[in-house]
Amino acid sequence: MNKQVRVFDDLKHVAEAAADEFTARAQQAIARNGRFTVALAGGSTPKTMYSILARRSAKKTDELDWTRIQVFFGDERHVPPTDPASNFHMANETLLSKVPLPAANVHRIHCEEPDANVAAAQYDRELVSSFALAGDEMPRFGLILLGMGPDGHTASLFPGTAAVQELSRRVVANWVPKLNTWRVTLTRPVLNQAECVLLMVCGAEKAPAMQQVMGDGSPEQFPVKYVAPSNGEVIWMVDREAISD
Ligand code: 6PG
Repeated sequence: MNKQVRVFDDLKHVAEAAADEFTARAQQAIARNGRFTVALAGGSTPKTMYSILARRSAKKTDELDWTRIQVFFGDERHVPPTDPASNFHMANETLLSKVPLPAANVHRIHCEEPDANVAAAQYDRELVSSFALAGDEMPRFGLILLGMGPDGHTASLFPGTAAVQELSRRVVANWVPKLNTWRVTLTRPVLNQAECVLLMVCGAEKAPAMQQVMGDGSPEQFPVKYVAPSNGEVIWMVDREAISD
């Protein structure tokens, strides 16, 4: 595993650098394989990066063929896509509706399903079909974008929840007691099969967890520590507040 930690002054600079990395990897993947597969992160941190990508596309300065990009999600809240809490809703508002991306290239997690397990199974079928997977093979994403919560969770792998220890299935529904809600999330084997995982972490509220994650905190307590692609890169893009002592 190749790991980089890049520190920036603030969220804006993190977002610019992450947008540059996204664009470079997309161009390389499209040139090499004819397509680029990316799983988007949810939450609020990625919004600035998504807006930058949308702006560059509008100004036609991104030199990206969006018809060659397949967009997935790392996780989803158990709400309909019209709900402001939905990760799809956030990504659609900031990016997907603003770039020339065919609707068929957007693979959202159908969390309008009353049973989160049904949504997880449907998304798994989407992965199997899109990546032409056989048996229990894991999809290899060109890029997986992730964030980190103040508790060290990533995607919807929250400390102490069942999904953190899932090593067979690709996608699971995960009950999160502290939020009293279901989530649907990619699992560790998928995250660690990626060519590149890019984590954006900003803000002072993340500093205590970052110290543990970069130090000797346990992965059970700080699940983002499990992110270690066996044959891929991990790039942390953090602001100074997130790594302040
Ligand atoms: C989600 C994300 C989650 C997020 C972290 C950080 O559904 O919320 O998948 O893992 O990346 O909670 O969120 P912020 O970027 O809002 O701090």
